Parts: sequence; C-alpha cells; structure tokens
Amino acid sequence: MSTQPASGARADRPIGVFDSGVGGLSILRALRAELPHEDFVYFADSGHAPYGERDGAHVIARSRAITSQLRAEHGIKALVIACNTATAAAVHLLREEHPDLPIIGVEPALKPAVALSRTHRIGVMATRGTLGSAKFAVLLDSLSGLAEFVLQPCDGLADAIEHQETSKITALCEKYTREMGPFGPGSGQIDTLVLGCTHYPFASGPLRALLGPEVHFIDTGEPVARHTRQLLLTRQVSLQPADRPGRGQLTLISTGQPGDLQAAAQRWLGIDATARSAA
Ligand code: DGL
Repeated sequence: MSTQPASGARADRPIGVFDSGVGGLSILRALRAELPHEDFVYFADSGHAPYGERDGAHVIARSRAITSQLRAEHGIKALVIACNTATAAAVHLLREEHPDLPIIGVEPALKPAVALSRTHRIGVMATRGTLGSAKFAVLLDSLSGLAEFVLQPCDGLADAIEHQETSKITALCEKYTREMGPFGPGSGQIDTLVLGCTHYPFASGPLRALLGPEVHFIDTGEPVARHTRQLLLTRQVSLQPADRPGRGQLTLISTGQPGDLQAAAQRWLGIDATARSAA
C-alpha cells in the first residue's frame, strides 16, 4: 500500500463517501462517530441503483464518475466506498487511477464472524454482485476450513430498503432467512449473520424479530471507520484540529430524489441537513 500523501490534501477538505443509495449512511454514522471534527460529502447514487443486480461494467462506470465528481467539485482528501458491491467491482481500479487519494473499501465481515461463531456456521446476506465477485471468492477461499458459510443473495432487499417499503422488507427478510435455514446457538445452526450490504443494517429490526436475540449480527461500520482514521494517519493526510468547535459539516448529494436521502439521514442518523441533486 502506498504511503504517499494525497496531493494537495488540506485538513479542511472533506472526506467523500458514496453508495448506490442510502445504505452507506450505516457507514457514515460510524465515520462521524470516529472522526467527529471532519467534514463529509455523502453521495447517494439512487438514480442508478440498485447496483447489486446490475452488471459489473455499470458499477465500475458509476464508481469512476462519482470519484471524479467528488474530486473535481469537492476536492476530497479521502474516499470511502460505502458499498460492498462497488468495492468488489471497482476498488482496485479506483486505487490504480487515483494513486494519490486514500481509498477505503468495505467487504462482508467474514473474518470477525469466524472469530465470533461458536457453531462455525455463518450466514452471509449480500447482493448477487458481491457474492459473485472475484474479490469475494478470494476472501472466502482465505477462510476455507474455518467455518461453513451459507451464502444468500438477497435480490430486491436493498431496493426495498431504499424505498422504505416496510412490508416488502419484512417479506424478503422472512424468505431469505428461511432459505438459509435454522438459526440459533445449537449445533448445526447459524449463530452469526453477516450483513454484507450496507443497506441491511437498516433491516436489522425485522431480522432481529425473525431470528431472536441469540444470533449475532455483524456489519462493517465501526471497523471501517477505525480503518479510515488509521489510513489517513498512515498516508499523512491532515485531520481537522481536535479543538475545532462543533461537529464537522455534512453535505448530502443524490442522483435520485434528494428528499429521500434527506429523510433517511433524519430517520437513521438524526441529522437535519438539506440534500441536493447531483447536477
Ligand atoms: N449498499 C450496497 C452494498 O453494500 C448495494 C445495494 C445495491 O445497490 O444493490 O452492496
């Protein structure tokens, strides 16, 4: 990994965060807790979502366009790809094309799940794009023999969360967890569930109601936020001064309906910020 600092990155530049839609707010929440003085620009590509059931070329093209836009218009000092599907498809290309920009990706948290599971049977809910990617195959291979992974592509679930279709969210959670099959702490049961798409933490209410209190849910928000801080330090990217008064600024941008992003930020993060349309 390069240790070159982001060229021209000043402490007062924001950190860019993007996802196919509102799911990456689950990562943004952890980032704001870990780096409270930093400014963030959150880019929801809702006008081109979902990514998980589209071909890789679409996701790569969108990831490239968003990265260029965030650099040109906001001079971001680092980029967090708050989307498992976009990370799997494009993180290696973006790092090649922007060697001076620290880029953090997300991937399903299989390693922490292996450490936590007692039954060694682990469920992984993710998009079809993530589960079918070469990057995920390498991750799975690196853990071979350590646990049994039950992989569940969840078509339609991110889209239902994106549009707050409550009864559809519940029906899809019910269908997919039934297909993965028995959950619980007993031998042969799945005791740990990896939420391998950044939208899914926002379905943890219905999932908890279906699976009961004993199943561990694992998402990537906090580890990604810690890793972001560490990478910024390693790459010598200046942070905002710790005595900066108040919280950092948040800019919300959407290629879909800005009102939907604004409502999601209010609902899930308690943030009152005006979202605007990506020109
Ligand atoms: N939130 C995204 C992820 O983590 C993908 C959702 C989608 O657009 O399919 O994979």
